[in-house]
Amino acid sequence: MSKKVFIVSSTMRANGNSYLLAKEFERGAKDADNTTEFLDLKNINLNFCKGCMYCQNKKGCAIKDDINEILGKVQNSDVLVFATPVYYYEMSGQLKTFLDRLNPLYFQENKFKEIYFLATSADTSKSALDNAINGIKGWAECFDKVYLKDVVYGTGAEAVGDIKKSQAMKKAYDMGKAIK
Ligand SMILES: Cc1cc2nc3c(=O)[nH]c(=O)nc-3n(C[C@H](O)[C@H](O)[C@H](O)COP(=O)(O)O)c2cc1C
Repeated sequence: MSKKVFIVSSTMRANGNSYLLAKEFERGAKDADNTTEFLDLKNINLNFCKGCMYCQNKKGCAIKDDINEILGKVQNSDVLVFATPVYYYEMSGQLKTFLDRLNPLYFQENKFKEIYFLATSADTSKSALDNAINGIKGWAECFDKVYLKDVVYGTGAEAVGDIKKSQAMKKAYDMGKAIK
């Protein structure tokens, strides 16, 4: 049975390393006949969550930017994939802002259960991703039966395109391809 896979790239760098991993994941997921949607945060208008809690009682978000047309797509996907550069040993602020803005879904029934996380860092040690992984786990665990299924460690990638020399590209493709 094919799944709906929603992929989010959060780097602002054109052809960034984490973007390339997200694209490889998408290629794998498509090759396994899944339906994919690719959201590139650098192409949308997204503001910070104001914490107004409009979403607790009303549908959607009070902020009139692009999030309202995205919420339903995330909600009705089976699988969510988040790609980020490591910034100061954390996930990027862009991705964190996006996760915060999904707060309306916290008060609703959602289809998604599995989360994949793709992160790139200049540091060659896998532990460079620890805080970012804890962050995404913390987000996932706020939702019923949602869990972090797997991680691609895109370590040792500093300049744009460095990731192409890494096994992480194949891992991202294979992870996407394994979704059924
Ligand atoms: C603001 C900023 C902070 C960064 N902080 C870290 C860091 O803490 N640890 C690290 O290993 N790399 C760090 N890097 C390097 C990036 O994680 C690395 O270049 C990554 O591959 C960028 O992914 P992208 O090409 O998808 O943007 C940082 C880069 C920037 C621009």
